[in-house]
Amino acid sequence: MKVLVVFDSHTGNTGLMAEAVAQGVRDSGIKAVLKTVDEASIDELPQVQGVILGSPVYYGLPTGKIKTWIDESVKYHGKLTHLVGGAFCSAGGIHTGSETTILALLQACLVHGMIIQGNPHGSHYGVASKGAPGEKEIENCKKLGSRVAELVKKLNP
Ligand SMILES: Cc1cc2nc3c(=O)[nH]c(=O)nc-3n(C[C@H](O)[C@H](O)[C@H](O)COP(=O)(O)O)c2cc1C
Repeated sequence: MKVLVVFDSHTGNTGLMAEAVAQGVRDSGIKAVLKTVDEASIDELPQVQGVILGSPVYYGLPTGKIKTWIDESVKYHGKLTHLVGGAFCSAGGIHTGSETTILALLQACLVHGMIIQGNPHGSHYGVASKGAPGEKEIENCKKLGSRVAELVKKLNP
C-alpha cells in the first residue's frame, strides 16, 4: 500500500510540510512516495491508495502547476474512487486564502470520487502554515499523513 504526497513549493515552505506529511504516513506503517509536482507522474495515481496534495497559496488558490497536474489526472477519471485524499498549504498570512486553497485541492479529489476524512479536533479541512511550518504545524502535518494512512489501512484490510 502506498500514499503519494505531491506538492509544489517555490521557496521551500510547502516542501517542509510535505516531508512531515510523508513522515506521518510512514509512522503509520504505509509507504509514502514524496514527489514535487515536477517529478510526480500522473501515471502513479492508479498505483496508490491515497494522495495528499500540497501547494503554496497563490491568490487564494493552489498554484498553476498543481492545477495543471490535477487537470492531467482526467486520464484516470472514474478510476480513482478508492483513493483517500488529503491537502495542505503554506500561505503568506493567516486568513489570506489557506482554507480556500485546501478546499480547492479537496474539491478536485471529490470530483474524482475520492474519500476524504475531516478532522473534528482542529485543522478541519487540512493543514495550513503561515510561511515556514513551526513545530505545531509540523506536528499537524504528521497527523494529517497518519490519518490518511490509517484510513487507507481500514479501506484495504
Ligand atoms: C504569485 C504569488 C501569489 C501569492 N498569493 C498569496 C495569497 O493570496 N495569500 C497568501 O497568504 N499568500 C500568498 N502568497 C505567498 C505564498 O503563499 C507564501 O509565501 C508561501 O509560504 C510560499 O510557499 P513555498 O515556500 O512553498 O513556495 C503568494 C505568493 C506568490 C509568489
